[in-house]
Amino acid sequence: MTTLPVRLDRSRAEPLPAQLSGAIRDLVVDGTLTKGDRLPSTRALATDLGVSRAVTEQAYDQLLAEGWLEARRGSGTFVASGGRLPAVVAAPRRATPSSDLVRLDAGTPWLDPRHLAGWRRAWREVSAAPPPRGYPDPRGLPELRTALAERLARTRGLVVDPDALLVTSGATDGLRQFLAALPPGDVAVEDPGYRAAVETVRTAGRGVVDLPALAPVTSLDGCAAAYVTPAHQHPLGRVMPAADRLTLLDTARRAGAVVVEDDYDSELRYDVAPVPALAALDRSRVAYLGTAAKSVVPSLRIGWTVPTPGLLDDVVRRRTVTHDVPSWPAQRALLTLLRDGWLDKVVRTARRVYAERAPRVAEALAPYAVPAGPMAGMYSTWLLPQASALAARDAAAAAGFEVNLLAGYCRAADLTGLVIGFGGVTDDQLDRALEAITCGLSGAVRSSPVKTPESF
Ligand SMILES: Cc1ncc(COP(=O)(O)O)c(C=O)c1O
Repeated sequence: MTTLPVRLDRSRAEPLPAQLSGAIRDLVVDGTLTKGDRLPSTRALATDLGVSRAVTEQAYDQLLAEGWLEARRGSGTFVASGGRLPAVVAAPRRATPSSDLVRLDAGTPWLDPRHLAGWRRAWREVSAAPPPRGYPDPRGLPELRTALAERLARTRGLVVDPDALLVTSGATDGLRQFLAALPPGDVAVEDPGYRAAVETVRTAGRGVVDLPALAPVTSLDGCAAAYVTPAHQHPLGRVMPAADRLTLLDTARRAGAVVVEDDYDSELRYDVAPVPALAALDRSRVAYLGTAAKSVVPSLRIGWTVPTPGLLDDVVRRRTVTHDVPSWPAQRALLTLLRDGWLDKVVRTARRVYAERAPRVAEALAPYAVPAGPMAGMYSTWLLPQASALAARDAAAAAGFEVNLLAGYCRAADLTGLVIGFGGVTDDQLDRALEAITCGLSGAVRSSPVKTPESF
């Protein structure tokens, strides 16, 4: 029997002083010890527990430093905070309903296993390089910015000074940083549109204005910015026509709004050459977002931005204070991947794979559905009555696959169908998923006509 109901276990890896301080902390938290209770002396407790006095002294010192205990000169050690603390409520378990389904996700790219050797080489190089001693450059690694600027000029027709380009933790992070620097106002976001962009705008405390995805933008009144995906509208797939690009820029100019161009997968075209970036038309009005999520992998969490000249200084000033820059190893690895030509090779291979897979998806879906846009990138969107989309979704789930409903990307827009990603699966998985989807579609009752956007 000890003077405190505590048991220490020498077989545990946790040092005895830490075990003891943890046990006493628990006694206070569960109300066994309350404010003002006197603790045994370190000597008496050490004798009771059969440990050295250094153990009890260290444990008491720790709890004194944390403020759980207080020492009163000449009279001993007492419990400083008191009363039973509210019971710790276990966080509710989040339901992960589809965690065991293979996702036909619109955002997961194909990474050819043959390219993994180059990936490993890049990380070996990172591990051998000495890290910078302080925080990284607030704009991003200078050599990486130079390499990215060269690539943007070559692949996107966007000529920028490397000092005007910032490395980010992905397109969504770039958007978040723009939002922090923009003047007050709502943000217009395409509808249907990229859900992460909508969420990011809302999280920034701004209102979201619905921008019909395929209509020319003729008003941005009250908006600080308009977020668009002109090279490959997400998720409908359309390229913004030249006339609509000019209308958008003109409307933004009149409203004093910035156009945020999310250029997430423009390199992955296989029908025509990639369309030049909107930012190449007007650098003063268009803030550009790029990402490695589609060309490399989303888990790298790397992207790049070219803010408008009006936003650049403010974004850099914030990053200088907050160090809101991607981790140095990730930047360093991307630099090697760019320098080695790895990224160009990966994009070329992925393009070939998507060019081969997209027609397979089209062949399976075309008898039942209307394509929402041209074939490009790693997903295609198909317009269907909601009942058919649901039947296909359920049939896919029964076969072990998760497919996204187009309705999930809509806010005010009334479009239904399926968004089918074909990058993150194997050929065999894609075949099986398409078989299940067409099976679901052929069994679905064709009750209502397919709704198409007005400007189709
Ligand atoms: C429209 C769009 N933009 C950007 C991204 C990538 O964002 P991030 O770079 O933050 O991963 C995706 C990924 O799915 C996307 O669909």
